[in-house]
Amino acid sequence: MPTEVREKVSLKAEAARVAEAVDALFLTYLKDPGDGRDQLFAAMRHAAIGAGKKLRPLLTVATARLFALDEAPAVRAGAAIEAVHVYSLIHDDLPCMDDDDLRRGRPTVHKAYDEATAVLAGDCFHDLAFEILSDPATHEDPFVRSELILELARSSGLHGMGGGQMLDLAAEGQTLDMAGVTRLQQLKTGALIEYALEAACIMGRIADEGRTPYRGYARDLGLAFQIADDLLDEGGDEAAAGKRLHKDADAGKATFVSLLGVDRARQQCAMLVDQAKAHLHGHGEEADLLRAIADYVLERDR
Ligand code: IPE
Ligand code: IPE
Ligand code: MG
Ligand code: MG
Ligand code: MG
Repeated sequence: MPTEVREKVSLKAEAARVAEAVDALFLTYLKDPGDGRDQLFAAMRHAAIGAGKKLRPLLTVATARLFALDEAPAVRAGAAIEAVHVYSLIHDDLPCMDDDDLRRGRPTVHKAYDEATAVLAGDCFHDLAFEILSDPATHEDPFVRSELILELARSSGLHGMGGGQMLDLAAEGQTLDMAGVTRLQQLKTGALIEYALEAACIMGRIADEGRTPYRGYARDLGLAFQIADDLLDEGGDEAAAGKRLHKDADAGKATFVSLLGVDRARQQCAMLVDQAKAHLHGHGEEADLLRAIADYVLERDR
């Protein structure tokens, strides 16, 4: 192969590498202590290790690459986001929420263990996120660490994922319009995805006004990602997705697909992916990984 042909960034290889690094970091915290807590540690490994796309850490690593930051701290920040995400999935699957028995191709935590263990595993992942971020290994500057912590707390809580989950539960049997569904998704799914890019900007000490393109990319990508999730729920394959599907329509949930129909939802998703990539126009090949992630969101089957 001629050497002048620019090699396309391999999303698969990069994703596998980041996932492995996140798993290795989680494992350092999750070895059995050899006492009555062993089941809790096992449940946390079951939920996180060797499972899931690890998309959010990949986004942080891909953004850190734009600013030529070291990768290890970006992996740590990404793992913190993944920890919040895993906590949200464990709790989302509980009988009191979506009552699911399959996640990431495995039985959900409350099925493999029990509900009390699942509640605690979720809680402890939430705490682990902040333990990782506040560790000086994540960044030498305490002001950077505290901004990382503040913004993760904001993206996870009342005005982020947690609030979005409440809106999602409240949406059952309600008729939401596009603005309502967009707001719900922006909190439920968008806020953490936006934080994945913001974290790299914080670590790179990028000035507020310099963050605009990355915030634009993240907002469009987060929306596209949720439309893809809704499309998967409508027409995906459970074996590939590794989770139960066709649940939104059964629950009477207003989603992008229920509002737009499959074809228009897919078009909207494609349009948002193009728009996300357009925010990166000021960058060269250092942004290829972020571009490849955006393309993947449209094609994903899991
Ligand atoms: C699933 O997230 C839940 C949503 C926020 C839509 P992912 O699709 O990223 O799930 P994993 O991490 O790969 O399991
Ligand atoms: C959950 O959304 C998003 C979280 C914040 C956990 P969903 O309920 O749509 O996610 P899935 O479809 O179960 O993965
Ligand atoms: Mg849910
Ligand atoms: Mg769910
Ligand atoms: Mg879903």
